[in-house]
Parts: sequence; C-alpha cells; structure tokens
Amino acid sequence: MSPLIQGIDLFAGAGGLSLGAQLAGVTVTHAIEENRVAANTYRINHPETQVIEADIRSIDPPAFKPKPAAVKLLFGGPPCQGFSTSNQRTRSADNPKNWLFGEFFRFARFSQPDWIVLENVKGLRQTADGHFEELILKQLETLGYESALWVLCAADFGVPQRRYRLFFVGSRTGRVPMAPSPQKKIVTVKHALADLPVLGVGAHEDVLPYPCAARSNYAKQMRGGLTECSGHLVTANNSTVTKRYPHIPQGGNWQNIPKRLMQNYSNLVNSRSRHTGIYRRLSWDEPSIVIANYRKNMLIHPEQHRGLSVREAARLQSFPDSYRFCGSIGLQQQQVSNAVPPLLAKAVFSQILNAE
Ligand SMILES: C[S@@+](CC[C@H](N)C(=O)[O-])C[C@H]1O[C@@H](n2cnc3c(N)ncnc32)[C@H](O)[C@@H]1O
Repeated sequence: MSPLIQGIDLFAGAGGLSLGAQLAGVTVTHAIEENRVAANTYRINHPETQVIEADIRSIDPPAFKPKPAAVKLLFGGPPCQGFSTSNQRTRSADNPKNWLFGEFFRFARFSQPDWIVLENVKGLRQTADGHFEELILKQLETLGYESALWVLCAADFGVPQRRYRLFFVGSRTGRVPMAPSPQKKIVTVKHALADLPVLGVGAHEDVLPYPCAARSNYAKQMRGGLTECSGHLVTANNSTVTKRYPHIPQGGNWQNIPKRLMQNYSNLVNSRSRHTGIYRRLSWDEPSIVIANYRKNMLIHPEQHRGLSVREAARLQSFPDSYRFCGSIGLQQQQVSNAVPPLLAKAVFSQILNAE
C-alpha cells in the first residue's frame, strides 16, 4: 500500500497542480493563494483543503501537522511571467516577481518536507544566464536535498496540448526518482473538443448540456458521467475581429488574414511579428499549442469562427468538466491559462509516490 503523503501547495492558483497531486494520491492539507478569485476557485473545487488567502510574504508557514508516519511534500509554482520567453520586457533578475521563489525555501526551512516540487516555465533556465536555476539548485542543496530537474511536455502525458514545464524535484529520502516516461498515445484537439456545444462569439450561457455522446476516451474521462457542464463562455469581439476569423485555416494565424482587414492591427503585429500564436486556429488532428493568454493571442476554434470557450481551454489543460472557475470570463481565462495541466502534475507526483 502507498504511504500517506500530505502536501502544501504554495501559489496555488486555481489548483491545477493540486488536482494532479490528489489524482496521484497526495492529501493536500493547505493551499496559499493571494488572489481572491483564484482562491475561491480553489475552495469550491477542493473543499477538504484549508485555503489561506494572503500574500505569502506576510504569513508564517502554517503548522504542518502531518499524521504520524506521513510523508511531507511541499509543492507549488511561483509566478512565472518574469521567466517566460514571451515576456522579454521584464524577464530578468530585476523583476521582483522572480524572487518570490525565495518564499518556497522559507517554508521549506520551517516545515522540513521530505519532498519538494517546484514548478515553473522552462524559460527560467535561460533567465539571467541560468542564474535562477543555479540559485534554486544551490538552495535545495543547502537545505539538505538531493535534486533532479525535469523538463516535461504535457502532450507526452495524456494532455491535448504541447506545453513544456520545468520541475525541480528535491528529496531528503535518499531516493531521487527518474523523470516519468512519456506515454505513447497522443491526445488531439479533436479528441478533446469534438463533443462540446457549438457556440458563437460572446457566448455567455455558462452551463449547457452535452449535445452528443462523448466522441473519445479522453472526452469520456473529462465528463466523468456528467450530463452537462459549465464554462461555455466566449470572449465577445466586434465585427472588425470576427471578419478576420473565416480567413484563417486550421494551423494558420494572423498571417492568413488579408492585409485590408488588419489595418488597425498593424502595430501589434509588427511588434510581435514573430509570434505565430496570434489569431492561431487550432488543428483538429494535433495537440493544441500552449494555452497561455489565449484571449489576448486569440486562439481560434478549429471549425467555428470564434475564440475558445473557458471549458474548451480547460479541456485542453485536462481539467475535468466538474471543475468550475470563479470570476469574470477574463479572470476564468487567466486561471485556466496559469494552471499546470492536472494530468501532467499527476505524472510528476506519481513518480514521487512510486519512489516512496
Ligand atoms: C502560475 S499561478 C499558479 C498556478 C497553479 N499552480 C495551478 O496549477 O493552477 C501563480 C499564482 O501565484 C499567486 N501569487 C502571486 N504572488 C503571490 C503572493 N505574493 N502570495 C501568494 N500568492 C501569490 C498568483 O495569484 C497566481 O494565482
């Protein structure tokens, strides 16, 4: 039988990383998140976890009272905008957000967990010439942890999305597991989305019944026996934008839009001209490109002339349909985009449980 593993999630957001930990068998006792709306999302989906809604810098680490013989795990994903390669402007050691991972080690010093899992974007490795990666590995060593560094693609772990994440795994158990092995089966956008309702630009009826039977094992897994689900919310666009959609084929982007329809877009496109994710229409037969800022970048449904709904983005992140997101459509989109795909997280935490 697996041992009891109790964990704390720092920078918990909507709870994607926590959900993956739970799916692997971890009991998450506490979650810390300063944003009220994200904390609410976390609460309604994880009623058994104590959510501490505060700036982590202002709080003492919670008393970590694991059951006797329980294995202690500290995990979390500090904000990563400052490390992201899509954010060249503030991607450096000068960005104060880049120093929040120090909080991770303040908590680790206090609660002395057996395991640490620190998740981030893989761009952290290159930021400030590798300075942050070096610092994190050094901190782990100073606190007495052996460590491993895994760069994993979500698409290799049953998630219909090519999203790379970096995991620092620290162990004080004398055992450091290998990275999880990629699965053979790739889940495509069609597997993930083909059974969801047809929606229009600006759709705002949150809960809708499924229009047909699940069309794939993945969809069946995401439905989990429900007959309806929430999140059928699509950003409203004006006609300048909607006229552009029909010109973009699957796999295409803003470059497929006739120039005459892009007049007032030229500044943005010029400044980000190498960004192929803008006005990107997803292809049915591949995993999605990364779901990040998908409202701003305008990820488009493979067939319908509109952006993705919150539920579609959540499916591409492997959140089950029972998972509900709080707040305005913009805040829901942000929480979904910020999350670690639960199935990727599950693969990571399962390696740790297997090593126990
Ligand atoms: C990348 S998101 C976490 C996503 C989460 N791991 C998931 O899988 O859903 C980072 C989170 O850190 C929170 N955060 C940022 N600064 C914080 C602080 N000083 N104290 C507590 N939470 C903070 C943000 O509100 C955001 O929700």
